[in-house]
Amino acid sequence: MEVYLDNNATTMVDPEVFKAMEPFFCTIYGNPNSLHKFGAGTHPKMVEALNYLYEGINAADEDDIIITANATESNNTVIKGVWVDKILNGNKNHIITSEVEHPSITAVCKFLETQGVSVTYLTVNEEGILDAQQVKDAIREDTALVSIMWANNETGKIFPIAEIGAVCKEAGIPFHTDATQAIGKVPVNVQACNVTYLSFSAHKFHGPKGVGGLYVQKGYELTPLLHGGEQMGGHRAGTVDVASMVGMGLAMHLATKPEALEFENTEVKRLRDKLEDAILELPETVVIGGKDNRTPNTTLISIRGVEGESMLWDMNQKTIGASTGSACASEDLEANPVMNAFGSDSELAHTGVRFSLSRFTTEEQIDYAIEVIKNAVKRLRTISSSYAYTPKHHVSEL
Ligand SMILES: Cc1ncc(COP(=O)(O)O)c(C=O)c1O
Repeated sequence: MEVYLDNNATTMVDPEVFKAMEPFFCTIYGNPNSLHKFGAGTHPKMVEALNYLYEGINAADEDDIIITANATESNNTVIKGVWVDKILNGNKNHIITSEVEHPSITAVCKFLETQGVSVTYLTVNEEGILDAQQVKDAIREDTALVSIMWANNETGKIFPIAEIGAVCKEAGIPFHTDATQAIGKVPVNVQACNVTYLSFSAHKFHGPKGVGGLYVQKGYELTPLLHGGEQMGGHRAGTVDVASMVGMGLAMHLATKPEALEFENTEVKRLRDKLEDAILELPETVVIGGKDNRTPNTTLISIRGVEGESMLWDMNQKTIGASTGSACASEDLEANPVMNAFGSDSELAHTGVRFSLSRFTTEEQIDYAIEVIKNAVKRLRTISSSYAYTPKHHVSEL
């Protein structure tokens, strides 16, 4: 049996989404900016897709949604746009973010630091989150942007976005949130949370890879990352990938309609909890950051004495895919930076395995995964020099 438990890295394209995209390759293939009927033929489905995107995050009609290549581009666009507009061409010089953002935020901030920008990386508590008061305390006269993720990719921990949005609104500072791991898992409402900019990536919610979005609240202009043609109203040059945009729109609709979010919060959560509870029956296992305030599909579990990579290897042999951290970092055997941020000891930091489910995960798959994981832990602990051969963890106790 094949079991895919790495849905925070990417998801399967929903077959309905795939079907909706197909006509845009060989039948309705005009350039949407062309004036003839081939170009115009793309418009109805593009408009429908855009409407689905607005609906999915509760954007207001006057707000903007820019189609990008992925969340990495959306994040770069916001931070570098603010850099040009408010820092190089304004009188601000400070950005507030957290220490557990995705590298598409932190690497940009690190780059801007080399250019003289001051960045505050807020720390997270032992539960892996921070509170709005920390943001308030970090705000300075010259703060140009606050960027805090909606949900963490590794732990699934959900940040207090409404409270942070309120703090930023009161201080008159634009608030960006990377909602890549939140869309389709928890309700996302930009208006209720006073969000100025929001990033997302279609492939995280059963849409295609290579397309994403950037929400921009009305009244907030950004210098574009890509200059060129007048596509996207001049906010992002380059011919839009129509098939992907149509796919992303439908994927957003399917993932964010109330019954889908309800399914996520009941059935997907039930299977996640079943898997998690079964692993936690093993001694010296712990959910990193604890069980509260998480996306319903994710668990990051530390299994003492078992290297995360060894677990992945054993599971892979039995056709189960999971992760030791974000996909971008999984070939890097450095300890997981998110776990380090939690203050975990260095052994714990190397023993985390992330399981992320989706609406396509089945009960049979979870039952099979539980059996494989328990056997793998037993085997790996038996041969682990740091676990099995210490008197405290005699093999017979495993
Ligand atoms: C929180 C978060 N932000 C941004 C990204 C980047 O997404 P993409 O690779 O689609 O650009 C990811 C991908 O894992 C993510 O988890």
